[in-house]
Order: sequence, then C-alpha cells, then structure tokens
Amino acid sequence: MFIENNKSLKKLNTFGIEAKARFFANINKAEDLLDLMQTSQYQDSKRFILGGGSNILFSSDFDGLIISSNIKGINLKAIDSEKALVEVGSGEIWDDFVRLSIKNKYYGFENLALIPGKVGAAPVQNIGAYACEQKDYFSHLSGIKLSTGEKLELDFDECQFAYRDSIFKHELKDDYFVSSVVYNLDKKWTPNLKYKELDIELKKFGFDFINQDAEYVYNTVCRVRKTKLPDYNEIGNAGSFFKNPIVSNQLKDSLLTLYPDLPNFRVDAENSKIPAAWLIQKAGWKGKSYGNCGVFEKHALILVNYGNAKGSEIKNLAAEIIASVESQFGINLEPEVIFIGE
Ligand code: EPU
Repeated sequence: MFIENNKSLKKLNTFGIEAKARFFANINKAEDLLDLMQTSQYQDSKRFILGGGSNILFSSDFDGLIISSNIKGINLKAIDSEKALVEVGSGEIWDDFVRLSIKNKYYGFENLALIPGKVGAAPVQNIGAYACEQKDYFSHLSGIKLSTGEKLELDFDECQFAYRDSIFKHELKDDYFVSSVVYNLDKKWTPNLKYKELDIELKKFGFDFINQDAEYVYNTVCRVRKTKLPDYNEIGNAGSFFKNPIVSNQLKDSLLTLYPDLPNFRVDAENSKIPAAWLIQKAGWKGKSYGNCGVFEKHALILVNYGNAKGSEIKNLAAEIIASVESQFGINLEPEVIFIGE
C-alpha cells in the first residue's frame, strides 16, 4: 500500500486551494482499503474520504490521512425492457457515467449533466439539479464501514436521502467508504421537464418528443449550466456554496410583504424553499470581490477563487455572507460545501 506524504491537494479540489495532506492514499480496489487499515498512518491519524473535491473547502492543511477512491468500472448487472441495473465504481467521474448511460440508451440522469465529482460522492451528497436527484434512480451501494472493517451494503431506505443529505453526513459520517453504487435506470426515455427554466430552454428551440432525445436534453443542461457556473479549470469554485434554505411559510409571508419579488417554492403545507442566490444578491454580494476570492458575477450562489485565495479567506467571506443574510432576512444560510481543516 503506497502512502504519499505531504501531498499537495491543489489539483484535487475544484476551488484550486493550495493545502497539504500529511498522508494520502489512493484506493484502486476495495481490498486496498483493508490493507490501508492495517497501517499506522491509518490507525493513528484522523481521516477524510475525498471524492472529486468539487464540494470541499480546505480551510487549512490537513494533518491526517486523505483517502481517495480510484475504483473504476461501469457494469451492467441486469436488464429487461423497462430497466437497466448498472453498477458504477466510486472512482468513476460522474459525468462520464451519465454520458455512457445515454450512449447505451439507459435514461434518467440527463438532467444531472456536467455535475463535477466522482460517483462515490453522489449518494453522500445526494447530488441534484433540474428537478432530479441521484436518489431517483438509486438501487443500493456497497462499501466498507471503517470503524469495524466490515463490508456493508446499504439499500435506498438505509441511505436516508434528503436534500443534499444522507446517512453519510450523520450516523456514518467519516465512517464509510463507498466502493460502488448501483443505479436502476430507465430503458424507456421520458423527459423530466419539471424545472421551469429547463423546460423553457428546451422549448425555445422547438423541443418535441419525436425528433429529440436524451442527448438533446443532456446538451441543453450543459449549455444552461455553462452560462451560470464558471469552469473550475479557469476560475476555482465548488458550485453552489450554500443550500437553498427551507423556511416557515410564516417567515416567507412576512418577507413577501417587504420583498414582493421574493421567489419561493412550496416544500409542504408549512414550509417553503427560498433561493439562497436571491438572498445573497439582494444583500448586495453578487459580483463582489473579497481579497483573492469573491461572489461570481453571473450567479450569486457561487463563491470563486480568483487565483491565490487561501481556504480561510473563502471561509471568512462565507461567514460574512451568512451574517449579512441573517441580519437582513432572519434566514440562516447553511453551507453545502464541506469545510476541511481548522
Ligand atoms: N437567482 C438570483 N440571483 C442569481 C442567481 C439566481 O436571484 O444570481 C434566483 C433566481 O430567482 C432563480 C433562483 O435563484 O430563479 C434559482 O436559481 P437557479 O435556477 O440557478 O438554481 P439554484 O437554486 O441557485 C440549484 C442547485 C444547483 C442546481 C440548480 C439547478 C442548490 C444549492 N443548488 O441552484 O446545484 O444546478 O438548482 O437545478 O440546491 C450544486 O449543488 O452545486 C448546484 C450547482
């Protein structure tokens, strides 16, 4: 088992933050992890499992062991006229899996085009966009429970998926390594047009069900995303920095009297979701720079690294945004991005 020392993480996080891990190990197959568990670097260090680094902020160096999955493989496990059951290694790039699925005519994840990161992080974060979440086609996953070393399979209910949430952020936080995920994709394509903006964009160019296909939707989602999200190879970022807050209808109604243009979406009889981007923009942050980082000028939910930002600078910017949104609207924004370090 090869363990690297003082590994630079700059290329392993989409924010492009320079930080170092005291130890770093790549896992190519589930058995590598069992070997790693025998080492002193594993036993004596705090640990973090890194996916594609697209939802992480390294706020300092990491004085411990970073474990990264490089487990590959996309395999068809079962198929009939309705469904295709596909097992994907946790180290596969999410978007490669989505593109391969569409090519093979296995449908469902077109709306999750171009989401950065690896497959292993998809259930942890329950990634979502354009009215689709990975849980919509999730079957089960396999991995290793770190505290006991046992191989453990978890089904849909056991994963406790919710909005950008799962058991891996709670009971199994830092205690589970995902080796593969199994998705149950559709063989018959039905477009998911529930997200208004995507529906409008598709129909702009005369979308119809006969001449267009899942690939057309995939390409449209890519185009929409590219207009809002900076390419992290050019400007470091981690997509949406905050979750969209869910507030009581009472608070939403009182805010609506002050801000009649407040966008809001029904969650249930008592609660509504408010776009964090709207709150941040209204609080005056959109396009603002803050030392080496700032708020993206085309989308207020995206914090960007202009080049040499330290993780701590972005953390401070996030804290200022939280305080200003709290004081103006009485809403506490919660980061979607996970902070690693001090
Ligand atoms: N808005 C503003 N200012 C802005 C941008 C947006 O006021 O600068 C308002 C507009 O009212 C807009 C609304 O916010 O209608 C929603 O914006 P958008 O459609 O861009 O979606 P979002 O709620 O900001 C969420 C996800 C994204 C996902 C998109 C599309 C979260 C935290 N983010 O963003 O996910 O791509 O919907 O489904 O739920 C990610 O998680 O990293 C991510 C990019």
